[in-house]
Amino acid sequence: MLKLSKLATAAALVIAGTSAMAGDVEVLHYWTSGGEAKSVAELKKIMQAKGHVWKDFAVAGGGGDAAATVLKSRVVSGNPPAAAQIKGPAIQEWATEGVLANLDSVATAEKWDSLLPKVVADVMKYKGNYVAAPVNVHRVNWMWANAAVLKKAGVAGMPKTWDEFFAAADKIKKAGLIPVAHGGQNWQDFTTFESVVLGVGGAKFYSDALVKLDPKALTSDTMKKSLETFRKVKSYTDPAAPGRDWNLATAMVMQEKAAFQFMGDWAKGEFLAAGKVPGKDFLCAAAPGTANAFTFNVDSFAMFKLKDPAAQKAQGDLAAAIMGPEFQEVFNLNKGSIPVRLNMNMAKFDDCAKLSSKDFVDTAKTGGLVPSVAHGMAISPAAEGAIKDAVSQFWNDDKISVADGMKNIAKAAAAK
Ligand code: BGC
Repeated sequence: MLKLSKLATAAALVIAGTSAMAGDVEVLHYWTSGGEAKSVAELKKIMQAKGHVWKDFAVAGGGGDAAATVLKSRVVSGNPPAAAQIKGPAIQEWATEGVLANLDSVATAEKWDSLLPKVVADVMKYKGNYVAAPVNVHRVNWMWANAAVLKKAGVAGMPKTWDEFFAAADKIKKAGLIPVAHGGQNWQDFTTFESVVLGVGGAKFYSDALVKLDPKALTSDTMKKSLETFRKVKSYTDPAAPGRDWNLATAMVMQEKAAFQFMGDWAKGEFLAAGKVPGKDFLCAAAPGTANAFTFNVDSFAMFKLKDPAAQKAQGDLAAAIMGPEFQEVFNLNKGSIPVRLNMNMAKFDDCAKLSSKDFVDTAKTGGLVPSVAHGMAISPAAEGAIKDAVSQFWNDDKISVADGMKNIAKAAAAK
């Protein structure tokens, strides 16, 4: 008996020893489309190779609204995941609740301060301490197109101005195809809206109106012109757009049913996952009028305070892996984004990513680098929700005049 119990104790010690190194890592994310799933699988592989157990907590729903709701209920019930896909000002809101873990030991050991653009590092920190790890830089002001559809309709190249865009859209309509593939969901409406505002008004106007929520800018002639242009874009979408998921809109472009889509470069992840070749099957260009600007959207994982030491160890390894060069390359090759880690070798990346990388650096110098409002980088989640609703109401109801639409948006912005 004695021997047996000694054996049991020894066995328990061995198990405890293993679990002190290998922990569960539960990761809440909303990467469920083809390209997204391939990307997150790379992170899972890296964590498994370190001996950890990946517990996938995927909540479907582009833009992450559903995931944010599920996260709240898990944290409120005292059972947070190790990491959750949270970004921008929402990181600060969670940190204020006192539920986020301090990642400084990993960040210092891995030299994050010197590997990240300051504008990104600041978002990842709360009161000077790292509480989140950044994954990538997505550019939101892209326009995607099917090369064969453009050719068929007699459109010579990617339109650079809104006038050129509408001329191209007319040709596509005449050819019997859908000019704009759109998914009618708040965040997709706003993704299009912010590109229109940027194209019509430029980066300074975008910042004044949508980031600073300046009432003068929100009720200006430039905003009027933006809303007119936005409504005109809608007239080139198909009647089945309401409620459609963004990746299904991308599929319409791939399948030669539609010509263009306004979407961030996670759409490229979809094209690539379907075996499409950039520059040949599909084309990328900045949305009309926005070539000198860059709306950035940095995905990141905020880490929650955990009690179990093995889980804490796994969490630290996750943070280190996310910022590591191996993950930064393979993840972003699949995701359509560019690495957030500075000085990465871009040799394996395609021309869309290379352009994104160049424009990210250039626009940071000229003032053209602006945060995406549609993707949670610019204003508080409450303000964002309110103006998204007002913009979608305008998009969905042609009976709302431009003047009223403008008033409603300004009112929503002022209330927050
Ligand atoms: C996220 C992307 C994601 C996209 C669609 C964006 O807000 O930043 O990572 O692919 O939404 O879900």
